Amino acid sequence: MKVLITGAGGMVGGALAGHCRNLGDDVQAFDREGLDITDERAAREAFGRLKPEAVINCAAWTDVDGCELDPQRAFLVNSQGVEALATAARLAGASFVTVSTDYVFDGLKADWFYTQRDDPHPASAYGAAKLEGERRAQMASARTSVVRTGWVFGPGGRNFLATAVERARRGARLKAISDSWGTPTYAPDLAARLRELAELDLPGVYHVVNSGEGTSYEGFARAAAEAAGVGGVEIEPVLMDSLKRPAPRPRNSRLRCLLSEAVGLRPLRDWREALAEFAGMSK
Ligand SMILES: NC(=O)c1ccc[n+]([C@@H]2O[C@H](COP(=O)([O-])OP(=O)(O)OC[C@H]3O[C@@H](n4cnc5c(N)ncnc54)[C@H](OP(=O)(O)O)[C@@H]3O)[C@@H](O)[C@H]2O)c1
Repeated sequence: MKVLITGAGGMVGGALAGHCRNLGDDVQAFDREGLDITDERAAREAFGRLKPEAVINCAAWTDVDGCELDPQRAFLVNSQGVEALATAARLAGASFVTVSTDYVFDGLKADWFYTQRDDPHPASAYGAAKLEGERRAQMASARTSVVRTGWVFGPGGRNFLATAVERARRGARLKAISDSWGTPTYAPDLAARLRELAELDLPGVYHVVNSGEGTSYEGFARAAAEAAGVGGVEIEPVLMDSLKRPAPRPRNSRLRCLLSEAVGLRPLRDWREALAEFAGMSK
């Protein structure tokens, strides 16, 4: 497949570019320097020249607290930028897949997973801008697939989940939130699904996460220490509200998909199995 990837300098975009190359795809991978997604003219020029069959957008401003403090910039990148890509993809005759987030939900659904039947209701500027990006992309191109994911970990990641294994190995004390739940997702597994969805070209909203009941950050930290094969790691449970961060986060943002299996896609493996592979790789 001839695939064009934006945000290839990030955790998910990097995993996706590697996966597509391994499959023998003709890959055009742009990091932020190569293509700023807020530059609609540059996107149209590049897509028109390269004529990809599919465009997969992994670029986003992912600093949740930064977005809260600068919602205009959040909107520029995570809403307008995504719309510009969807328009450019349509003009170039390409399908469009864009990655969105569990943060489009407010997290008040305490006891169950969020599915596509739940109305999004973001609590943060990041979530609001991502939701607006979903909607603008769908308006700009009928061939848009929105892929909501959450709690992503993998090589190159800088968040709590992606660094927990390495910090456990170093013997660092891990402070982990005990009252917030999500569905961990391994970036390479997500990447493989993004490519499948680009090839399927069945527009819609998909929830893509690893299987399992999900966990808290504390649960993830404990599993990461176990996967790293180190005992005696000190894990200090903390309450989410005690961190006093600028942006509110959903307390429960576990996702489940109603569509993937209906279109013939197999569930992704359990997150603990993926975590074990990640820990083994990063030894
Ligand atoms: N990580 C998670 O837990 C998580 C959870 C749910 C959803 N997601 C979604 O998954 C997607 C991928 O996230 P990730 O975890 O791979 O994040 P990431 O590592 O921060 O990657 C995002 C990439 O986008 C780039 N970028 C920012 N502004 C840009 C712009 N204007 N033009 C082009 N590129 C730009 C960033 O470059 P700089 O580093 O130079 O800014 C970065 O390389 C995003 O849509 C995110 O919202 C992630």
